[in-house]
Amino acid sequence: MNIKESIESVRNKFRTDSDPLPKDSKDLELLHIKYLGRKGLVADLFNNLKDVPSEDRPILGKVLNDLKNEISKSLVGIKGSSFSEKNEEDITLPGLKFPSGRIHPLQQTMNDIKNIFMNVGFSVAYGPEIDDDFHNFSALNFPPEHPARDMQDTFFIDPETMLRTHTSNVQIHLMENEEPPLRYIVPGRVYRNEDISFKSYCLFHQVEGIYVDKNVSFADHKGILEFFVKRMFGDNTKMRFRPSFFPFTEPSAEVDIWSEQRHQWLEILGSGMVDPEVFKSVNIDPDVWHGFAFGMGIERICMLKYGIDDIRLLYQGDMRFLEQF
Ligand code: PHE
Repeated sequence: MNIKESIESVRNKFRTDSDPLPKDSKDLELLHIKYLGRKGLVADLFNNLKDVPSEDRPILGKVLNDLKNEISKSLVGIKGSSFSEKNEEDITLPGLKFPSGRIHPLQQTMNDIKNIFMNVGFSVAYGPEIDDDFHNFSALNFPPEHPARDMQDTFFIDPETMLRTHTSNVQIHLMENEEPPLRYIVPGRVYRNEDISFKSYCLFHQVEGIYVDKNVSFADHKGILEFFVKRMFGDNTKMRFRPSFFPFTEPSAEVDIWSEQRHQWLEILGSGMVDPEVFKSVNIDPDVWHGFAFGMGIERICMLKYGIDDIRLLYQGDMRFLEQF
């Protein structure tokens, strides 16, 4: 085989070797070494060049150089087109999305409620989730035989100690520890021994409100809650106060808001004027001090606000759900 034929043979060999294309940059590197390496096939051909008659050398040298350039270009072309690895180096491609954290809808609702009340002079207070019968029930004027004290409803730790069933226990702690006037909201977790379903869970969240001062009227209580509802759900929200009963408020009311979507009234909170019996249990003179209190379920409000139809979604930590907020 003369050198011209050898050049042709290396050219053909390269074509076969590069079809199919090398599968990754490692194979590409091997291909490069095989042809263009210091001891590669092209270098061999250059070595053989010294054996050809000197008058043929320039022309064969050119043919050989062309082959070398051809292979070199081809290798650069392969590198530029075929690997996913190369994509990572392509700075013109769109960047990777960074997953960003979000505030849980329940927390968001809680923050909204806190902000609304803090804007009109309420402070935020917290109290114990494990409490005694006095703070959760007796001081709030629950009679001894009241059904809320039933094991069906309440998680007891011992007959005197329980997981609080509402944030109203903190009304008592606050009034025990501070002289009126008082103006607080109390966010927190509460526990009830409920069957778990789309609308109830054994744990949920409430925000309690307590306002104690001289000359506080039922109109003040209505005014504050109306202000809250309009801020939370919008100025055009229809609402109503419906007479109700709680052992620790008298008179008592529940607030409903109208849902256009479901075409029905939905209860969002319980409230009322602090019962004189409650003031007596914490040694506040009911002839001097008056007040109102309210308690709202955060899950309820959150579900209404965001159109969530199953309470359990709020506790499962499912990213597909959470990423929507
Ligand atoms: N504690 C009551 C409940 O859990 C709500 C409430 C709070 C009602 C304060 C009146 C005043 O249902």
